[in-house]
Amino acid sequence: MTKETYTFPKGFLWGGATAATQCEGAWNTDGKGDSILDHCTNGDKEHPRQVTQTINPAQHFYPTHKGCMQYDYFEEDIELFAEAGFKTYRMSINWSRIFPNGDDKEPNRAGLDYYRRVFEKCRKHGIEPTVTMTHYDIPWNLCVKYGGWTNRKVIDLFLKYAKTIFTEYKGLVTRWLTHNEINFGTISYGEVITSGIIPKSGQILMQDPNATTDDVNKRFQALHHEFVASAKAVQLAHKIDPKNEVGCMMCGFAFYPLTCKPEDVAAAQRDMEIWNYYCMDVMCKGNYPYWAKRYWNDHGIDLSITEEDLAVIKEGTVDFISFSYYRTDCSKADNQVLKGSTNFGMANPELEATEWGWTIDPQGLRWLLNEYYSRYEKPLMIVENGIGAYEKQEADGSVHDLQRIEYMRNHFEAMSQAIEDGVDLIGYTCWSAIDIVSAGTGEFKKRYGLIYVDADDLGGGTYKRYKKDSFYWYKNVIATNGEFLNK
Ligand code: BG6
Repeated sequence: MTKETYTFPKGFLWGGATAATQCEGAWNTDGKGDSILDHCTNGDKEHPRQVTQTINPAQHFYPTHKGCMQYDYFEEDIELFAEAGFKTYRMSINWSRIFPNGDDKEPNRAGLDYYRRVFEKCRKHGIEPTVTMTHYDIPWNLCVKYGGWTNRKVIDLFLKYAKTIFTEYKGLVTRWLTHNEINFGTISYGEVITSGIIPKSGQILMQDPNATTDDVNKRFQALHHEFVASAKAVQLAHKIDPKNEVGCMMCGFAFYPLTCKPEDVAAAQRDMEIWNYYCMDVMCKGNYPYWAKRYWNDHGIDLSITEEDLAVIKEGTVDFISFSYYRTDCSKADNQVLKGSTNFGMANPELEATEWGWTIDPQGLRWLLNEYYSRYEKPLMIVENGIGAYEKQEADGSVHDLQRIEYMRNHFEAMSQAIEDGVDLIGYTCWSAIDIVSAGTGEFKKRYGLIYVDADDLGGGTYKRYKKDSFYWYKNVIATNGEFLNK
């Protein structure tokens, strides 16, 4: 139902998002250590990214090594974000830029200084940073030496990192997100990048579920440690600066029953529970969901959880909920993929999909916003949403990404409906502010940005920036606080 005008709350946080490993490049500059994604080769729709134990640029191209070169271009990029009218820039700090090995005695001063320059530049332009503390960038050394988050010791190492950045950026950053898309740990699809569990040699599990050597127990133990670390970080952030607000960051995903068969409806409920609510209950309510024990038993999961852990989790609930939203899927009783923990659901035959097969479902966003809000009654922030597409630059430098404008427009309409429903939605940062490397496939040509970067999949190009049509459209949306979506 298209309307003439729309209403968004005063002070709504419009902006754009990126992640350090996907945009910065400079992977080994100024003392930075290698993070897990720096070991991932490029891929595409058909060819999953490989994790290599040693980095061998002579043999492979590693897309994060160059990103979109934001390390070098950050001033220009932030000026463009300011021109678009961003109120916030959601970005991440790369843990391995601050503690190159994760367990170093002292932080890397050059890394700290880099982000200080970035935050100061944002503030100078009236842009508030929203900062993710880990976005698929656990230092490689922590994966090799400790087994990533499977090891309880990593909690303390993370807290040392947290204390360092909360202290260093006090007054510059007050909105933090702990672990990006933490719920990827509930399925084996994302265990490498979220938990730091590395297969001996093999594929990044974003694409090829069959490549996994999944150990469900390790995966859920890793998640538990991430929960404890996040809860402790919430408390620490509040102690260091009472102005700090800390959110969880979820991969928001709705599962619909594929049919109205009661078995399929129940399957969708189970998928919603494990995918969305397992993590959110812990991080927002402060306890594991009532069905967790049964889930653990059914899947042979035996966790080491102390009384102290449970007390920490209770005390360290988040201030708000942030999440990404790209697509929805369907559940079917005899193909309940999340149950076997290998992949997402089945494609919805009622929906169109992107060139990468991601269904497009703006109405699902309204539905999910209502689901989350009714369950937790905490402020919500959409920190990723967008469409990955092949794009052509015209001879005059322009890029007519009308598909992106339509995608965003329809999602904004759904957001405004949810706000009218009464949902407390505080902000939206599109994915992505600027073209960056795709996390899943490592491609550059899967473009999400409002700003076009002249780069190709193998690191070629001038890396010059060009404003796409969506840049101008979004600028107008922000300038009118979302009142006019149809212009
Ligand atoms: C989210 C991640 O899952 O999806 C981002 O937080 C990622 O890092 C985005 O880039 C889009 O996925 P992809 O695989 O198309 O880059």
